[in-house]
Amino acid sequence: MTSRPPTETRARASLSRHRSVWEMRADGWISLVDDLSRLAILAPEHPERASRLAHVQTIIDALAPVESYWAFPGGRVFGELCQWIEREELARAHQAARRIHRVLAARTYRHDANTLDNDNELPSQIETDSERQAQLTRPYFEVLIVDEMSASEEDALRRRVQRKRSADDDFVFDIVVVPSFEDALIATLVNFNLQAVVIRHGFPFRSVNRNGMLRRFLEGMDDNSESMPEFERGPLLGRQIAQLRPELDLYLVTDVSVEEIAARVGEVFKRIFFGEEDHIELYSAIMKGVGERHRTPFFHALRDYAKQPTGVFHALPLARGKSIMNSNWIGDLAQFYGMNLFMAETSATSGGLDSLLDPVGPLKLAQEYAARAFGARRTYFATNGTSTCNKIVVQALVRPDDIVLVDRNCHKSHHYGLVLAGAQVAYLDSYPLDQYSMYGAVPLRHIKETLLGFRRAGTLERVRMVLLTNCTFDGIVYDVERVMTECLAIKPDLVFLWDEAWFAFARCHPIYRPRTAMASAARLCETFKDPAYARRHAEFAASIDWEDDQQLLETRLIPDPAKARIRVYATHSTHKTLTALRQGSMIHIWDQDFKDKAEESFHEAYMTHTSTSPNYQILASLDVGRRQVELEGYELIQRQLELAMSLREQVLHHPLLRRYFRFLRIGDLVPLAYRESGVDNYYNDETGWDNLEVAWRSDEFVLDPSRATLVIGTTGMDGDTFKNKELMDRYGIQINKTSRNTVLFMTNIGSTRSAIAYLIEVLIKIARDVDARVADLSAIERRIHERRVRSLTLEQPPLPNFSSFHFAFRGRSVEGRAGTRDGDIRSAFFLSYDDTNCEYIDMAEAARAIAEGRELVSALFVIPYPPGFPILVPGQVISAEILQFMAALDVREIHGFRPDLGFRIFSRAALDRAAQATAARAALALSGRAAQPQAGDEGLGLVRPEPEPELITLSPTPKKTTTRSKK
Ligand SMILES: Cc1ncc(COP(=O)(O)O)c(C=O)c1O
Repeated sequence: MTSRPPTETRARASLSRHRSVWEMRADGWISLVDDLSRLAILAPEHPERASRLAHVQTIIDALAPVESYWAFPGGRVFGELCQWIEREELARAHQAARRIHRVLAARTYRHDANTLDNDNELPSQIETDSERQAQLTRPYFEVLIVDEMSASEEDALRRRVQRKRSADDDFVFDIVVVPSFEDALIATLVNFNLQAVVIRHGFPFRSVNRNGMLRRFLEGMDDNSESMPEFERGPLLGRQIAQLRPELDLYLVTDVSVEEIAARVGEVFKRIFFGEEDHIELYSAIMKGVGERHRTPFFHALRDYAKQPTGVFHALPLARGKSIMNSNWIGDLAQFYGMNLFMAETSATSGGLDSLLDPVGPLKLAQEYAARAFGARRTYFATNGTSTCNKIVVQALVRPDDIVLVDRNCHKSHHYGLVLAGAQVAYLDSYPLDQYSMYGAVPLRHIKETLLGFRRAGTLERVRMVLLTNCTFDGIVYDVERVMTECLAIKPDLVFLWDEAWFAFARCHPIYRPRTAMASAARLCETFKDPAYARRHAEFAASIDWEDDQQLLETRLIPDPAKARIRVYATHSTHKTLTALRQGSMIHIWDQDFKDKAEESFHEAYMTHTSTSPNYQILASLDVGRRQVELEGYELIQRQLELAMSLREQVLHHPLLRRYFRFLRIGDLVPLAYRESGVDNYYNDETGWDNLEVAWRSDEFVLDPSRATLVIGTTGMDGDTFKNKELMDRYGIQINKTSRNTVLFMTNIGSTRSAIAYLIEVLIKIARDVDARVADLSAIERRIHERRVRSLTLEQPPLPNFSSFHFAFRGRSVEGRAGTRDGDIRSAFFLSYDDTNCEYIDMAEAARAIAEGRELVSALFVIPYPPGFPILVPGQVISAEILQFMAALDVREIHGFRPDLGFRIFSRAALDRAAQATAARAALALSGRAAQPQAGDEGLGLVRPEPEPELITLSPTPKKTTTRSKK
């Protein structure tokens, strides 16, 4: 029932075997060199020879199809190598294979235009550093040509391209020719050097390539594509490649009605050429296309600025290094950072460069390019992290008294942002993972239940925003499109803020991309325009009883395309997962109503939170980070994914590591109820990582495998000790997040195989140490150790749900109707500023008071680290479950809780006064509405709950999590 574009335009990336193809290629060359080196010295009659030769042939058979998708070493050279092997000229073959392998491993083919030396048939080496430097300044890429050609035609084309090269070119490219539709798709996924694809007219559909590993890339591809008429094939291929790798420039060269094709598929192709008439143009178009992505207007402007002689007569003594160069004492700052950092220091007010607060030049362009790269309609840079971005978006869109549904487990910037905005906050509960002291994510059913709760209370109109974290710190990723689809069916003008602080990289990769906010917004927009979808909606609307909440909960809802608006915001900590200096973040927007409904308020909010002295180095790094995303993001993210996969596999298969450590699998982190595919482990010894894609296509929640949570309870150490005492202090390994019995490792685009190897080595050392320590324990010590292990592995305190806001802060509903769970967090927050409104109560006293029936209300956010989410917010009632959780926590850091004094709570008198003020406000609202009565509205009033407000619980009950106490 979800809204998806017509299937024939959807290409699916089957990338689970990727790891094996790239690895297979690298391993293949290593084995080939090994075998040939042995064969080169074996006597002809040696008994080993025949089996070695047979092995070499197996490797060649496996490598041949893979090599056909790369420009280096290329078909001709690979063919020659095969012939030498066939003729048993093994010393020569060995030498050639060794050099090819070396060039491939070091990737020097990217920087040496004459990698293949014609005289001795071997790739030549780059001779000197300066030569290498010169070539590095001209990046290399490959262009895929889809056409059926003979080997000589292909050679001629390659020579033609090489003849066109000029010293003035900014880049160097080589070509890869593939003969069919299927080959083109495989090459798109396999060859990360590609930057452009030229699709020529008339080519077959099927690949002759029968290699099973490569054919897996085509899994899920629509077979109808084959029956398309040949002239439609090019446009269809273009559309499918654009879905897999939208950053690639696509060109169509056709012999038929170019004008008509241009009108139909112009938006997919960068240019459409007629026959051979324009091949000079094509060459320049390819260079220009890559140049557009390579251009970094702000970084460029900053560099130019740094070179200009300027006299500094404004406030910024450090600009151009002046205050450092003249100093007797702080010269080491310049020594450490280099002078360019200071040469590039300037301020908008001094007129040197564009201004972040009112960009009109290179900064404006840089933001437009970022919007293109991340698939947004507009993008704003921020120099104070996503913490600031979140506050900007909330303030821009939420008015005081608007209701916002928000994941309670979200980053603290949202809680504070909502306080500032004066929102009525309705906290959503994520499903708990008690066993690992962490939360999952918010089930869609719970979001729908909450929205329907507001409908029942008569206050749905005031619900403005749904705010969720995608992906969570622990790597749980939503089905963003589905969440928005179903919510829009209940409230068509909802605004969504997706906190993608940890997910900026996801845009680069076809597996991740569909689950990003921007890609989902774009798809929904397309879907709502589709007449077939409107018909589906009409049928659906006629079949459902919109008054039956239960039915709405059980059904996959379809919004009315005539009413639903796409209003989606995403915030990225670019600096967390991509290349950008610390605090470099972006706000991406896909809001159909931005101009009419948000532009002015967004501008005001941006002004509220943005420094008037933004750091220009951060802005320049965002510009360059965007360039990297568009030119090599795909390769980098695929490698990041592979390293994580390798890390997981190695721990799984190592006998000692398995005893103490285990990476959490999807089955551990997402209850079965939210895994439609039933997949509980992405990796399997037989099928590799196939399950990953299956799950990512269908499940409500999936796991980003590059975030690997290691369970360590069996070592007897808690997460904090493991992180600080072992990883950091002893081995210099930095990680970010821990829970009571887990530590989280993340691979990123800077991770290397050596770093993974080091981590494995360290884990082995730690495991050996634990082994040795346990062996040395006395009987009593052993019992203590075992008790500790049991406590860490089996006895986690159940995570408490959000209890409720106190009556004094609780949301209003239409009189006579059920209460809702939203609260006025701002009033509670500021009430606590006056000490006379507050008192302290310690844990034991609090437990007694609650048992005696007193309502204790927190005056502060109380946030234990770990897990790092607020277990209490201002205005929230302290429940017995929360106390139990606090008591069982053995963490040192609890913000908002003073060990000497206890909880800061509101006094009874303060609560009474607050309740009276709230009732007065409700009465005022009631009289205001009475003056303008609305149909079906009984007036607004406070509902005093007897004895408890209606609490919305998570359902269906997760099947695989541990039990938790029910209220
Ligand atoms: C989910 C989430 N959102 C926002 C932020 C804040 O991002 P920044 O550090 O860029 O301010 C964080 C920081 O860890 C986060 O985890």
